[in-house]
Amino acid sequence: MDVVIGTAAAPLRIAIVGSGPAGLYAAGQLLASEDPVCRVDVYDRLMTPWGLVRFGVAPDHPKIKSVTRVFERTARLPGFRFHGNVEVGVDVSHGELAGAYHAVLYATGTPHDRRLGIPGEELAGSESATDFVAWYNGHPDYADRSFDLSSRRAVVVGNGNVALDVARMLTLSEAELEVTDTADHAIEALRNSKVEEIVILGRRGPVQAAFTNPELRELAELELADVIVDPAELELDATSAAALEMAEQTVQRNVETLRAYATASTRGRPRRVILRFLASPVAIEGNGRVEAIVVARNELVIGDDGSLRARPTGVTERLETGLVLRAVGYVGRPLAGVPYDECRTTVLNDSGRVLDPLSGRPIPGLYAAGWIKRGPSGVIGTNKRCAQETTSRLIDDFRAGLLPEPPGNPEALLDRIRAAGVKIIDYAGWERIDAHERGLGELAGRPRVKLVRRDEQLERASAGA
Ligand SMILES: Cc1cc2nc3c(=O)[nH]c(=O)nc-3n(C[C@H](O)[C@H](O)[C@H](O)COP(=O)(O)OP(=O)(O)OC[C@H]3O[C@@H](n4cnc5c(N)ncnc54)[C@H](O)[C@@H]3O)c2cc1C
Ligand SMILES: NC(=O)c1ccc[n+]([C@@H]2O[C@H](COP(=O)([O-])OP(=O)(O)OC[C@H]3O[C@@H](n4cnc5c(N)ncnc54)[C@H](OP(=O)(O)O)[C@@H]3O)[C@@H](O)[C@H]2O)c1
Repeated sequence: MDVVIGTAAAPLRIAIVGSGPAGLYAAGQLLASEDPVCRVDVYDRLMTPWGLVRFGVAPDHPKIKSVTRVFERTARLPGFRFHGNVEVGVDVSHGELAGAYHAVLYATGTPHDRRLGIPGEELAGSESATDFVAWYNGHPDYADRSFDLSSRRAVVVGNGNVALDVARMLTLSEAELEVTDTADHAIEALRNSKVEEIVILGRRGPVQAAFTNPELRELAELELADVIVDPAELELDATSAAALEMAEQTVQRNVETLRAYATASTRGRPRRVILRFLASPVAIEGNGRVEAIVVARNELVIGDDGSLRARPTGVTERLETGLVLRAVGYVGRPLAGVPYDECRTTVLNDSGRVLDPLSGRPIPGLYAAGWIKRGPSGVIGTNKRCAQETTSRLIDDFRAGLLPEPPGNPEALLDRIRAAGVKIIDYAGWERIDAHERGLGELAGRPRVKLVRRDEQLERASAGA
């Protein structure tokens, strides 16, 4: 009897690489399909799912993290399996996945930091926000990192929400921190922090800042910090003033909020967040470690593409600091065997279909979603629409008979991975870690106490299995 692929008897087998928002939204959409019927295996290099919801979203934003309830519902659907602790490109190759599944969908995110490319960037004390965020969120790759918080002033470079997150984390009081799921090592370090002043540098003006407004307004609620903006830096050039008239609500509100900060009197709090504009770092100085940052005053000029760009005026200033946090965005890295777009640092794709770089045509059965598809921008919900675009195309391709029949199957592949000594953590293993962390949290009045080290996670995942 002929087996009909895409039926309950022979579901379409799909591997999703990455268990962040994009991977989980894609899994939910595929498992909701009745024709074809799909079975989804989600691989992640970590033992814990949810990507940046666990390791990016700031610990003092617990409501945002509650999106995991949606992902948990997906993970409990029949047809879903989680294979944690399996790194694609290390423990299993792309070729092996393609040989075992009808389709492979990459949702691996873009977890590396963009560089400033200025002298002194490599000095101790010049840190990427990427690392700092992963460290305070208890990412196991950063379990042994430490950050020197002995400087009175910290300088955060960038005008996006990540810059606001790290600035806020540096100002939280012990009481504010202790009710979060911040990693214990970070709570300890932040408790002993000497940082009193955080200067946030935006290379362009207030109209061009990438903050979202609730995050900018939230600074006013900090228990220990005043927010300071120099009114002179809010004066708009003619092009920005015209752009503001036409701008979306977020930008208009941001400028209103900044104007309110600039005119408000300070409340004498022990810490300060100073928002600076038209200010670019041009060098980081120090003898063996950061001692100062040289900042150029910019003006805005219209670039070749019509956008407003920052151009140094020649005026510079030197800010003494022992800590520079670069929050200037994220980048992706190539995955072996998967076509890559060097300019965008994403998988080479058209609306989620991965393209052959030579022919420019889609490679049957190969897809991408989330930040590795469209670049490192957008909030969690953006990945739902992004995943929908990709999964619709995957299903269209199946219906058009374009998906190849793989020679192998997932069970043989999983046996092969286990035989190589990889301890695969399934969803029940993660649930054991989760329950343990929540239990510790309950005792401490926190949402959870994270297990940070791989050996602790492995031990807990395996306990009672
Ligand atoms: C610091 C920070 C804070 C943020 N805060 C918010 C917020 O408060 N609210 C909001 O709406 N949005 C926030 N965002 C944005 C949001 O986190 C992203 O839109 C979203 O996480 C992107 O989802 P993704 O699935 O593409 O990638 P990710 O969330 O990065 O997930 C990628 C997953 O792939 C796995 N992976 C990577 N490589 C491999 C491999 N080779 N093999 C197997 N697995 C692999 C990773 O371990 C990870 O689990 C924040 C982003 C950052 C950086
Ligand atoms: N609470 C939340 O909802 C939340 C929290 C965190 C992150 N996120 C989302 O996650 C995404 C990533 O955030 P992000 O902050 O990493 O990126 P982002 O929003 O793209 O901001 C990056 C910032 O870095 C600046 N920058 C880039 N290169 C620079 C350089 N060489 N010198 C000086 N400044 C430079 C950019 O300025 P230019 O504009 O001039 O390029 C921009 O201000 C965003 O979509 C964000 O909204 C959301």
